[in-house]
Amino acid sequence: MKDEWAFVKKRTAAEGAVWVNQDHSRYRRTGDSRLKAEAAFQQRIAALGYPVPVVLESASDGPEFAFVEPSLGAASLHDVAWNAVDGAHLPMPDTVVDDAAAVGARLLEAQAEHARPATRAALRSWVEEAGWTGNVFAENPDLDNPRTHTVLSAALDRLSHTPMCWAHYDYGLPNAFLAGVIDWQHHGLAPVGYDTYPTLEIIAFKGGNKGYYATGAQRAKYTAALDEAALRVLGSRPSRYMPEFLLIKALFFLALMKPADLTDTAKALKWDYRRALFTMGVEQYERAGRIDTATFPSLDDFAPQSEHCRTGDA
Ligand SMILES: Nc1ncnc2c1ncn2[C@@H]1O[C@H](COP(=O)(O)OP(=O)(O)O)[C@@H](O)[C@H]1O
Ligand SMILES: [Mg+2]
Repeated sequence: MKDEWAFVKKRTAAEGAVWVNQDHSRYRRTGDSRLKAEAAFQQRIAALGYPVPVVLESASDGPEFAFVEPSLGAASLHDVAWNAVDGAHLPMPDTVVDDAAAVGARLLEAQAEHARPATRAALRSWVEEAGWTGNVFAENPDLDNPRTHTVLSAALDRLSHTPMCWAHYDYGLPNAFLAGVIDWQHHGLAPVGYDTYPTLEIIAFKGGNKGYYATGAQRAKYTAALDEAALRVLGSRPSRYMPEFLLIKALFFLALMKPADLTDTAKALKWDYRRALFTMGVEQYERAGRIDTATFPSLDDFAPQSEHCRTGDA
C-alpha cells in the first residue's frame, strides 16, 4: 500500500514539516537544502553506529527535499514522563530515567568511539552554533561583555583536552526514544558528553510548575550510568565537564527569546527569565566552577521579581 501522509507539525526553528503515514510506522520530513544535509548527516552517523532511524527513502524536487524514516515508537521519553505525571508537578518515573540512561549511553558510546582531538577553532564554533551566540548577543547586547567572554574562554580552556564528536545540539527527552534519537537538524561537532549529560538538568530551564521534574537522586543515577559507559570507551568521566556543558545550554535556552512585540508581557517575562538563568549560571560558574540547576527558580517564583511583570515594558 502506498503511504498517505498526515501533517504532524511544522519544524521547530527551521523551514519544513513532519508527516506520519496511516499506521504510524513511518515519518516523513519535508524541507529544503538544509533537510538534504540533515538526511546525509543522519545516514553518515547511522553508518558510525549512532542510534538513529535509518533513512528509508529520499526525494528531491527542485529546491524541495523529503526523506522517510521508521517510527521509533508512539511516545518519546518526554511524552512518557509527561503522561505518567498527568499534569502534576512530580518526579519523573524511574523507568524513564533508566530508559534515558540506556539510550544516552548508546549515543555517548558511539560518539566516544568516533571522537577526535579538540581544536580551539572547533570548540569556538561549537559555542557559536550550539550556543547560538550570534543571536543571543544580538538580542542581548548587554551580555556581550568582557565578563561573559572571560567565562566562555575559561570554559574552553578546561575543555581543550576533551575529544570532540559529531553531536545533536538539541538532545533532550523530546527527541529521545528507547530505540534511538530523532531530529538531527542542528548537528555539528561538540565535546564528547555535551549532548547526553545535560538531559535531565535542562528540564529546569523550562521553569515549569507543572509536569515532571528529575530529583537529585535521579540526576545522580543518570550521570553515573553515563560515566560508567564513558569509562569503558573513553577511559574518563565527562561528568567533570557538566558545568561547561550547562554554560552553553544556558546560552542555547536564551536564544530566540526576545519577543518581536515587547508589549507581549508573557513572552517578555520568559525572555527575562532565561536572561536571569544565564546570569545565575555565569555567577555560579565564576564563583564555584559549577552550575546547580536545582537552585533555578521556577518561572512562577521568578515572575514577581521581574521588571517586565511590574511595568509591562522592556
Ligand atoms: N522517527 C520518529 N519516530 C517517532 N516519532 C517521530 C519520528 N520522527 C518524528 N516524530 C514525531 O514528530 C515530532 C516532530 O519531529 P521532530 O523531527 O522532532 O521535529 P522538530 O524539529 O519540530 O522538533 C517528534 O517530536 C515526534 O513526536
Ligand atoms: Mg524535535
